[in-house]
Amino acid sequence: MNLPYPPPQAGLTQPTAATQSATAASQRPRLTFIGTGYLGATYAICFAELGYDVLGVDVDSAKIAKLTVGEVPIHEPGLDEILKRNLAAGRLHFTTDYREVADFGDVHFICVGTPQRADGMSADLSYVETAVTSLVPHLTRKSLIVGKSTVPVGTAEWVEQLVGKHAPAELGIEVAWSPEFLQEGFAVEDVLRPNRLVLGVKTPWAHSMLLAAHKGVFDLAVTEDREVPVVVTDFATAELVKTAANAFLATKISFINAMAEVCEASGGDVSQLARALGYDDRIGKKFLRAGVGFGGACLPKDIRAFQARAQELGAGEALRFLHEVDLINQRRRTRVVQLAAELLGRTYGPAGPDLTGQRIAVLGATFKPGTDDVRDSPALSITRKLARAGAEVAVYDPKGMENARCELPDLEYAESMADAVRNADLVCVLTAWEEFRYADPHALGDLVHGRRVIDGLNCLDQAMWTVAGWEYRGMGRPTTA
Ligand SMILES: NC(=O)c1ccc[n+]([C@@H]2O[C@H](COP(=O)([O-])OP(=O)(O)OC[C@H]3O[C@@H](n4cnc5c(N)ncnc54)[C@H](O)[C@@H]3O)[C@@H](O)[C@H]2O)c1
Repeated sequence: MNLPYPPPQAGLTQPTAATQSATAASQRPRLTFIGTGYLGATYAICFAELGYDVLGVDVDSAKIAKLTVGEVPIHEPGLDEILKRNLAAGRLHFTTDYREVADFGDVHFICVGTPQRADGMSADLSYVETAVTSLVPHLTRKSLIVGKSTVPVGTAEWVEQLVGKHAPAELGIEVAWSPEFLQEGFAVEDVLRPNRLVLGVKTPWAHSMLLAAHKGVFDLAVTEDREVPVVVTDFATAELVKTAANAFLATKISFINAMAEVCEASGGDVSQLARALGYDDRIGKKFLRAGVGFGGACLPKDIRAFQARAQELGAGEALRFLHEVDLINQRRRTRVVQLAAELLGRTYGPAGPDLTGQRIAVLGATFKPGTDDVRDSPALSITRKLARAGAEVAVYDPKGMENARCELPDLEYAESMADAVRNADLVCVLTAWEEFRYADPHALGDLVHGRRVIDGLNCLDQAMWTVAGWEYRGMGRPTTA
């Protein structure tokens, strides 16, 4: 009789001494990472650091060429040094050749993008499909394909069917899903020391291979007297954990931004409100900072794909609130333009304000500090709106300039914060980089044409900027400190 796996009682498990020693007895599997973007490159590099033999593959030959010579194609603190060390140790290689990947790997991790489809809210799974169909025909022995990309529930089953279509059954290729929770800017730490592992598996073999593929993570935890919680579950739950987590985080951010709107209407201060709320452990203070809202390559597209998938499954009602979460988030971007008009004495008509003749310095282009990622960045979206309203905009970001230039090539990009603010009528801080948070308002005041600042992240010291003669506007905060 075929019993379901994992057994229903599996729930939250730690690798037991028995499973640990069973996996310790087997050789460490050789790992491949398919797609070497923010997720895949970080994983490939960090798992080599954990002692695995690793091969990364990408269709972008320029990216592979860079990685091969020790250049990380993204900005992620600490990753450069680890890449160089592991290339030198001979544990880490990169290729564009799927034959090599099939030949090399025992466990293949799918790390390709799952962006929003151009024609709707669903996830575009074409990259996942191509990755699977490029790999599978070359496989000549039993191996495990593990999805790490964020996908709609049901994708792992579909990948299993794809594998069945493209690989001879006698090879016994298996599929598992292990969603990823890393945060850009903290990715090295998150990969080496994850706060949990979620393993969606159907067989004891897939389970033990996944544990073996993470043995380095468990070994590191033991040396640091830590435990890594492991949730062993079915495909659907594993996929849902990731989309549910992102839906929750997006909701928390939009909740406090909705409170910011109410504060703006009533004269309250959302920063103090958030502080007071955060002392309640049931609420917690993380992700409770009002500002320009969430962005990046995950939360916006993931909450939309989640709604689209729930609709397909007949559970659309359950996630209708995520539409509101998205709307609140988009309204924060418009709010900055309203504040700009207000500070610059321009009226805000039905088509927005006319900001012609005004010079605006935008500090920040990335969707958050610690990364060069500008995908769906609130900072860039606001910048685009300001430029469309006729303002002359100068942008500066410590790490995101190259990517921002690709997105918005027609803007002026400054070499430094000082260059950006020189002669500006208004300064907008739209990414909370330390360089901006701790900037000296007196020194910057000497460079600008008008001392007006919008603090899009409520990250500046309002009292200090006001004392230095700046007209300050935060998000959901009164105009005086
Ligand atoms: N970036 C994050 O912080 C993060 C965190 C958790 C989960 N995720 C999820 O991980 C996935 C990847 O995200 P990302 O930010 O790394 O995307 P990315 O765009 O940075 O990287 C994807 C990479 O896959 C490559 N690729 C595309 N098709 C390929 C193919 N057929 N074969 C080999 N390589 C191919 C691309 O060239 C690119 O380098 C997404 O599903 C995302 O939602 C991302």
